[in-house]
Amino acid sequence: LRFLPQLDREANLTSSVAILPLPPQNATVEPGTGCQVAGWGTQRSGGRLSRFPRVVNVTVTPEDQCRPNNVCTGVLNRRAGICQGDGGTPLICNGLGHGVASFSIGPCGQGPDFFTPVALFREWIDGVLNAPPPGPA
Ligand SMILES: *[C@@H]1O[C@H](CO)[C@@H](O)[C@H](O)[C@H]1NC(C)=O
Ligand SMILES: *[C@@H]1O[C@H](CO)[C@@H](O)[C@H](O)[C@H]1NC(C)=O
Ligand SMILES: *[C@@H]1O[C@H](CO)[C@@H](O)[C@H](O)[C@H]1NC(C)=O
Repeated sequence: LRFLPQLDREANLTSSVAILPLPPQNATVEPGTGCQVAGWGTQRSGGRLSRFPRVVNVTVTPEDQCRPNNVCTGVLNRRAGICQGDGGTPLICNGLGHGVASFSIGPCGQGPDFFTPVALFREWIDGVLNAPPPGPA
């Protein structure tokens, strides 16, 4: 792995900077589960990035509204969800980082939103984190 993103200094844990635990390998998140997604993305297609992170409660969709290798969410009764600039932001379900924002279909907020399922990559993530630091390129 050539480009491993790393912080340039130690993070200090505070009330607003915390560690997000990841799910075990292959853990699933049930349709109907309430989750949260937060990010600096736009509030509508073509809008401006937000000046502060915004958070929205979302619900894991039934499998027939998703794809086998994603976790998907939607918001009932109003238009909300991930939008431009939110790619890569975490989906937090039951206190675990179950997803990484990937894409949605159509205009922002129509749902469903598709997330990379972190649980399918947990062992790979641990392997990268535990590997010796990369040498000079
Ligand atoms: C965390 O605190 C240390 C010691 O005060 C400081 O040097 C460092 O810059 C801080 N890190 C961040 C990301 O603010
Ligand atoms: C995860 O699922 C894959 C595919 O079904 C399987 O090969 C692997 O052994 C599972 N790993 C764990 C830790 O459950
Ligand atoms: C979002 O969900 C959390 C936890 O379930 C709840 O405490 C909070 O009131 C909800 N916020 C909104 C705006 O619905």
